[in-house]
Amino acid sequence: MKQYRNETLAVRFGDSVNQKALYSQDVVTPIHLSTTNYWKQIDQPGPYEYIRSQNPTRNALEQQLAALEHANYAFAFASGQAAETAVLLAVLKSGNHIIGYDDLYGGTKRLINSVFNNFGIEADYVDVTKEAELVKRIRPNTKIIWLESPTNPLMKLADIEFISKIAKKHNILVVVDNTFLTPYLQNLSI
Ligand SMILES: Cc1ncc(COP(=O)(O)O)c(C=O)c1O
Repeated sequence: MKQYRNETLAVRFGDSVNQKALYSQDVVTPIHLSTTNYWKQIDQPGPYEYIRSQNPTRNALEQQLAALEHANYAFAFASGQAAETAVLLAVLKSGNHIIGYDDLYGGTKRLINSVFNNFGIEADYVDVTKEAELVKRIRPNTKIIWLESPTNPLMKLADIEFISKIAKKHNILVVVDNTFLTPYLQNLSI
């Protein structure tokens, strides 16, 4: 992936031409609206079964975002809160603990404190730029360190690489909710 510049990835990668299973090989990805797709037999779905599981337009977007993130996979959601909910549901179990940056987006804090708290999830919010404070909050049940950089609203920064190294030592997942920079600017140093 790295041999292409971001400009090329943004224009070409993940378009329908790269979706080998798509018969139409569109050069510019159209909006596919079909809810269900053709199955050869009752037990033989095609490459696209049903819009919630696969959709050629969404696949194109996800492949392109993954390429720009230098990642293997991306999943697109209709809103940021939906993506956050999916991450929290996928990773956490009752009794787990989250450490969040102390200036997270208000909707994220509300989601964690008012919804996930009802399912036994605990959270602490700290200034993650202070290593000692961050490390002090890590518990055996801490599963996620949730960052924004820059944060919304106060534009505070976090050293994602440094915090990820600390997290890795404790087997903790780092989430970066990247609302401002896009992958283009967030990954400039990679
Ligand atoms: C950092 C951050 N996360 C999540 C959201 C929520 O995104 P959405 O409004 O798409 O649910 C926002 C919205 O501004 C945001 O700034």
